[in-house]
Amino acid sequence: MNQFISVKDVTDINALAKKALMYKANPFADRQLGADKRIGLLFLNPSLRTRLSTQVAAKNLGMEAIVFNVDKEGWALEFEEGAIMSGNTVEHVKDAAPILGQYFDILCIRTFPSLKNKEDDYSEMFINQFIRYAGVPVVSLESATLHPLQSLTDIVTITEALQQRTLRGKSKPKIVLTWAPHIKALPQCVANSFAQWINAWGEADFVITHPQDYELSEVFTKGAFITHDQDAALKDADFIYVKNWSTFTDYGKVYENDPEWMLTEEKLKLTNNAKVMHCLPVRRNVELSDEVLDSAHSLVTKQAGNRVWAAQAVLSEILKHK
Ligand code: CP
Repeated sequence: MNQFISVKDVTDINALAKKALMYKANPFADRQLGADKRIGLLFLNPSLRTRLSTQVAAKNLGMEAIVFNVDKEGWALEFEEGAIMSGNTVEHVKDAAPILGQYFDILCIRTFPSLKNKEDDYSEMFINQFIRYAGVPVVSLESATLHPLQSLTDIVTITEALQQRTLRGKSKPKIVLTWAPHIKALPQCVANSFAQWINAWGEADFVITHPQDYELSEVFTKGAFITHDQDAALKDADFIYVKNWSTFTDYGKVYENDPEWMLTEEKLKLTNNAKVMHCLPVRRNVELSDEVLDSAHSLVTKQAGNRVWAAQAVLSEILKHK
């Protein structure tokens, strides 16, 4: 693997998930692999899980990890080709990225979308410029449209949970991605990415449910069954992934905030004793009720813990390629 931007960078999802679970059982199995290597973690946006889990994963592999909060501590970066930099931006990415490529063996970047300009966001202008100019492997810590480390973690978590689940005669688990209410316009990244990975994985009966006008890009959802009827979607579900996203078609809007879309214990009665997932951070009693989050249905803490092992599996694959 020479970069990790989307599921397209992975040749065998199950093998990568298995490797993550191997590291969970034996965190220091490859502690020499990253000896004398340095990883840079660049954040243009806030993070708790991604930042710390990737640092821990790098350390487990013997790497030195350096975090740089570009948004707070760095020069304001320019990404536009040919820009006349007479405004607020101070340094062009084509000047900064090759320098970072000399300081680090692997460069990891978190950027969010603007949610104002769909074409810019969906062209992945920010992360693609780093890939173009850094000259070292780039790992996405969440980009404008995708969150691959989260999605790999989600498949690791489902794989792990399946070892203790009965599917009532089904050959594949039913996995439901459901939209949830939120007070702010959030990116489509986690939902896009989850859909992309579950479709590529191909080992689930995959259903997406959301209110009208909340369609995601077909580039990621193609292969899933999509319905506006949440109750019908939840019927006999084995896993429910709860996530808010803003509108894709009329880009970045909040049209709907109906609390009826919040997942409650009552709705879980429709399911096959489903396990509930969320990438976190979660707005309690807006996206998900306390009763669900604090119940045995919830996998969210385990899921967030698995971020370390997913990141470690990805970094080890990149280190082996170098
Ligand atoms: N799930 C996730 O990416 O969490 P953070 O934003 O805290 O990194």
